[in-house]
Amino acid sequence: MKDILAQLESRRETARQGGGQRRIDAQHAKGKLTARERIDLLLDEGSFEEFDMFVAHRCTDFGMAEDRPAGDGVVTGWGTINGRQVYVFSQDFTVMGGSVSETHGAKICKIMDMAIQNGAPVIGINDSGGARIQEGVASLAAYGEVFQRNVTASGVVPQISLIMGPCAGGAVYSPAMTDFIFMVKDSSYMFVTGPDVVKTVTNEVVTAEELGGASTHTRKSSVADGAFENDVEALAETRRLIDFLPLNNREKAPVRPFFDDPGRIDKSLDTLIPDNPNQPYDMKELITKIADEGDFFEIQAAFAANIITGFIRLEGQSVGVVANQPTVLAGCLDIDASRKAARFVRFCDAFEIPILTLVDVPGFLPGTGQEYGGVIKHGAKLLFAYAEATVPKVTVLTRKTYGGAYVVMASKHLRADFNYAWPTAEVAVMGAKGAVEILYRSELGDKDKIASRVKDYEDRFANPFVAAEKGFIDEVIMPSSTRRRICRAFASLRTKKLANPWKKHDNIPL
Ligand code: HXC
Repeated sequence: MKDILAQLESRRETARQGGGQRRIDAQHAKGKLTARERIDLLLDEGSFEEFDMFVAHRCTDFGMAEDRPAGDGVVTGWGTINGRQVYVFSQDFTVMGGSVSETHGAKICKIMDMAIQNGAPVIGINDSGGARIQEGVASLAAYGEVFQRNVTASGVVPQISLIMGPCAGGAVYSPAMTDFIFMVKDSSYMFVTGPDVVKTVTNEVVTAEELGGASTHTRKSSVADGAFENDVEALAETRRLIDFLPLNNREKAPVRPFFDDPGRIDKSLDTLIPDNPNQPYDMKELITKIADEGDFFEIQAAFAANIITGFIRLEGQSVGVVANQPTVLAGCLDIDASRKAARFVRFCDAFEIPILTLVDVPGFLPGTGQEYGGVIKHGAKLLFAYAEATVPKVTVLTRKTYGGAYVVMASKHLRADFNYAWPTAEVAVMGAKGAVEILYRSELGDKDKIASRVKDYEDRFANPFVAAEKGFIDEVIMPSSTRRRICRAFASLRTKKLANPWKKHDNIPL
């Protein structure tokens, strides 16, 4: 009996060694943790339960029958993050470069199936040389099986991808279908075809980092939602994000203890809006001042900074925030901002996370670049996302909100539940100058007359009261009381029930 127990322990120890000490050292030398070290940091101490530790591949070509490492290059299982269940897979680069074989893929599929069945998030740690070359099409099939599960799981359980090494070829499409992608600076990359193929086909010379590193994907392509300095930071921030999210689409996000008075008045907000309407102010100041303990988890901070997206808590409850940022492009909506915010709104709606929208928007960005790029269709994504969302929606207008952008940004007309405005808000078809130039074109030569027309227009429309008279604004509130008002608004909406008519699925303008 003792021998048998010892044998198990010895087999386990061999499996834990992955590709052996030499390759573990090489992994560490690159500043990367091993697959198991990553799981240890991601999950609560001692909570990891492993599946399929002894699974080995079935390939016999290229002399592979003699090399069958236990676990086959991926560590899978479940554990907890702050006591809540998550499923996890972590590719082991020390075993055949973490490459995906038929059995490696099947291990991932097994935990994804369990996650969908049991309603818990999937966190995938990607560090892989891609399809296992020796297995050919069997490996491609394995990817296909994973892709299918990504889609089945979408909107059912949150899926998070951590890119902590190479992720190339079709392999990038599994992370691409998950809800959030986080990368590690200087040690991870994602691309469909690598620098060598790029050089052959297009003659472009580009490094792997330039082509698909963390900076590229968080700033240019928006494929990734965040970039972190190292593995440890990425794993810690993933734990932080999971705390904001429900386990699945039938549960609410967890309510965390809070130590911040929901009725807190913040006098500094009464002077946040500058006297000069053309002077920007930092909308993040408002977000952190109304959030519980000032805690804000930002998503896609480095991309389309003219709109801000992320999570806060109010009275311990998760809330998704979408806010125009006046310091960047005056907070205009453009293609990138619309896409970024639309995806965020849809995530919140899919997982029953209420949405707070903070509005200061001069309109959609004009120009051929935008029109040729399809701003109509991309802007419509955000409009569509807000309109279909049935979660509690609270909107606060801080300053201007003009034209189509007024309607798009969670207006009353798109079923927002509470629409508050600060006294500094202006709701109009456009700014006073633009309006007067159209309405009084014949008087354009007379500067004084035009100035007085602009003044008249501002007096009449540069305020929230015209919209409030029509009931499009529910209440004009003091800026300092914003936290108290929105906490009460969301509290009153906790029992909200709203459903869209039955349909197979909608046809959002993709
Ligand atoms: C089998 C692989 C492998 C792979 C790496 N290895 N990639 N084994 N299949 N795809 C093995 C290496 O042989 C090596 O084994 C070990 O992993 C580490 O690899 P190195 O090359 O020594 O590491 P490094 O220098 O860090 O380079 C990493 C790499 C490179 C950039 C990922 O290995 C590489 O280019 N690999 C091939 C990538 C690729 O073309 N994959 C197919 C993509 S197409 P030893 O025994 O020496 O330690 C694809 C399609 C998916 O994935 C489609 C889905 C639909």
